[in-house]
Amino acid sequence: MKLFDVYSLFDVVPVKAQGCKVWDEKGQEYLDLYGGHAVISVGHTHPKYVAGITEQLGKIGFYSNSVINPLQTTLAEKIQKLSGYTNYSLFLCNSGAEANENALKLASFHTGRDKVVAFKRSFHGRTSGAVAVTDNPKIVSPFNANHKVVFAELNNIASVEDALKDNDVAAVIVEGIQGCGGIHIPTNEFFQQLSALCKKHGTVLVLDEIQSGYGRSGKFFAHQHTGIKPDIITMAKGIANGFPVGAILISPEFEPVKGMLGTTFGGNYLAMAAAIAVADIFESEKLVDNAAEVGKYLIENMPQSSRIKEVRGRGLMIGIEFNEPIKEIRSKLLYEKHIFTGVAGTNMIRLLPPLCLTKADCDTFLKAFREVL
Ligand SMILES: Cc1ncc(COP(=O)(O)O)c(C=O)c1O
Repeated sequence: MKLFDVYSLFDVVPVKAQGCKVWDEKGQEYLDLYGGHAVISVGHTHPKYVAGITEQLGKIGFYSNSVINPLQTTLAEKIQKLSGYTNYSLFLCNSGAEANENALKLASFHTGRDKVVAFKRSFHGRTSGAVAVTDNPKIVSPFNANHKVVFAELNNIASVEDALKDNDVAAVIVEGIQGCGGIHIPTNEFFQQLSALCKKHGTVLVLDEIQSGYGRSGKFFAHQHTGIKPDIITMAKGIANGFPVGAILISPEFEPVKGMLGTTFGGNYLAMAAAIAVADIFESEKLVDNAAEVGKYLIENMPQSSRIKEVRGRGLMIGIEFNEPIKEIRSKLLYEKHIFTGVAGTNMIRLLPPLCLTKADCDTFLKAFREVL
């Protein structure tokens, strides 16, 4: 049976990985500045992570959400400490799209409304509601297009005000930093005005921190650079370093009702062991501070070149926008310099490395990058 051919693939077969390094089947070493799409947070095969999952597997790997699973409470306590969100509650699921889907559903239950405001250039995932609030017609099927969604302009509060004025919007969903759309950072003023507008119109503010959260921006959540407190925050990617886990943080204003949300696999023992190990490593290795410091170093030392239009980013979420398509540069980085990078659109190289990246790793990249330019 052949695979349904929907992915553009690097011509690389990784067989081993450690920290920020990956090795292919021929023994070639690569520096990973892509982190499997912002997923690897504590580093590949971190010994505490491997031990946490392995030990749990020998005890109990799975049972459904019909029994008490104390690991879920342990994770909730750890996320509370890492995030500073003391009175929010946690709902666990399996992916980013599912986290957003649950957030939008909860907002709709809570308000009794069915309309959502999202932003141009947004990406929120590929399930029904998540893709409907994603600004990319190529991945929205006619089935998904039936949701009631209005796309406003990021950093243009008038466009949001216009969309909210009739008090009929359940939720505004916005990324902490737009990732797939090309590393666009909402201004502090915009986020503060957005938060106030949502309160005024009884609209739930959903912060999608799936890519920008879990330390990547140099704060635990990217919106914490701006001082706002959203009603719902969605997470995935870095939360379990590659074990599929999604989650939402929910403000105390929401009343849980039995059966309102649910999932078979969400919050299972192995997923919790993975996420707990990640949370422990975040604390002991101060990875959020490391992302801030190393990210700053990387941005400050980026080469000057007439080919580069702009470098944007926060922490270890960085976009290098070129005046031209980057396909060849990225290929050279991968096949000649053995460095994985990500992209956004045709003209941007996106760096989303593990949060344990060192300044020495940055120097390796910067030297290679200068040579390729
Ligand atoms: C901001 C954002 N939201 C949602 C998603 C969807 O996450 P998943 O692929 O785990 O469904 C992504 C994935 O790239 C993302 O970057």
